[in-house]
Amino acid sequence: MLNVENIDVRYGAIHALKNVSISVGESEIVTVVGSNGAGKSSLLRAIAGTTKVSKGSISFKKQRINSLSAPSRVKSGLTLVPEGRQIFVSMTVEENLLLGAHSRTGSEVKNSIESIFDRFSNLAERRNQLASVLSGGEQQMLAIGRAMVAKPRLMMLDEPSLGLSPILVSQLFELIKELHSQGISILIVEQNTKLALKTAQRGYILELGSVRQEGTVDELAADKILAEAYLGESN
Ligand SMILES: Nc1ncnc2c1ncn2[C@@H]1O[C@H](COP(=O)(O)OP(=O)(O)O)[C@@H](O)[C@H]1O
Ligand SMILES: [Mg+2]
Repeated sequence: MLNVENIDVRYGAIHALKNVSISVGESEIVTVVGSNGAGKSSLLRAIAGTTKVSKGSISFKKQRINSLSAPSRVKSGLTLVPEGRQIFVSMTVEENLLLGAHSRTGSEVKNSIESIFDRFSNLAERRNQLASVLSGGEQQMLAIGRAMVAKPRLMMLDEPSLGLSPILVSQLFELIKELHSQGISILIVEQNTKLALKTAQRGYILELGSVRQEGTVDELAADKILAEAYLGESN
């Protein structure tokens, strides 16, 4: 479904991604793990079209999308829940959800929004309040809800568990599995490596802008450096 081949991302002198190739198949959950600064967010932004690639090819549903704008990529079924949520705190909860609709209008959007409110009663209770009143966990649900309104085929999530309590983290991962069971493919970047490896089927270890290893989650969990760095008892 998604094929990223040999892409580079540069920010001036910083060479953030070097020859990175990853793929996500139909109805797969794939994770990208790696330390801070490894290039995980740059990779997701490059796929979403909000960061430019200087080399390589990105294709989605067998079509090269390098030259598609970010909104066109959303329309084609590719959405990103960005790191830090990036919801609009001076807009209401409902207005934030409407932003996910992009070009879609009418009853279809209304139904999507109502189904988000059915699922998240905390959001429903606050639909006409500013998003700034939401807790961190509710803001993350709103960000995912907004991505769901776009009706994605592939949802990318950048560090969704960051700053959430353990209970909210497990609710979040239940939701991710549920979206997956509805046929949405998932590409997830997580600092909670243990949880990411538990949820995904396959993954990649990104290190200093390059893919150091790829494999099934069992293969990755057996990676010595990864195990020492992230899978200790404290996680
Ligand atoms: N907008 C930007 N401008 C300049 N450098 C950036 C920008 N975004 C990320 N970087 C740099 O690119 C590298 C990869 O960052 P990032 O993709 O955010 O990694 P990660 O998400 O794995 O922490 C880092 O060295 C970071 O400082
Ligand atoms: Mg990041």
